[in-house]
Amino acid sequence: MAEHHSHEPAVELPPTRRNFYILFINGVMGLIGAAVAVPAAIYLLFPPKARKASEWVKTADLSSIPAGKPTEISFQRTRADGWQLITEKATAWVVKQPDNQVIAFTPNCTHLGCAYHWDDPSHTFVCPCHTSAFSVDGKVLGGPAPRPLDRYSVKVEGGVLQIGPPEPHA
Ligand code: FES
Repeated sequence: MAEHHSHEPAVELPPTRRNFYILFINGVMGLIGAAVAVPAAIYLLFPPKARKASEWVKTADLSSIPAGKPTEISFQRTRADGWQLITEKATAWVVKQPDNQVIAFTPNCTHLGCAYHWDDPSHTFVCPCHTSAFSVDGKVLGGPAPRPLDRYSVKVEGGVLQIGPPEPHA
């Protein structure tokens, strides 16, 4: 029995069709690459800006704050947390001086952060946690507090007290 050798040539795409497929595949790959690379390049060249909270909050009319007597005021402040803005309640102990200058203390003890209060009879700020005491201008009078009370930045515009971010402590 004679062997049958197939001498049929392998099926080959005509060069033009083959080139077309290669070009087509390369084109699709290029589009996929561009779909990934263009947004990445835009992100790298123009990074999105984190949302920024307003730094100053209008709180109270200066005329409503008694001079010389610490007054606790509450206000809403907006804080940037990553990409979102969070509105939260904040407080400050405000002391108006006779010359209308204002000091605003942040509400937490500088020892371990407890909320302190004003004690009228002793004329001091007193922290209930470990009995630190502070003078009306925030100096440490006793207890374990390592530094004076922290302060907010303040300004007065149009007779309204505005409270800004906490000042860096020394
Ligand atoms: S937290 Fe105020 S004295 Fe310790």
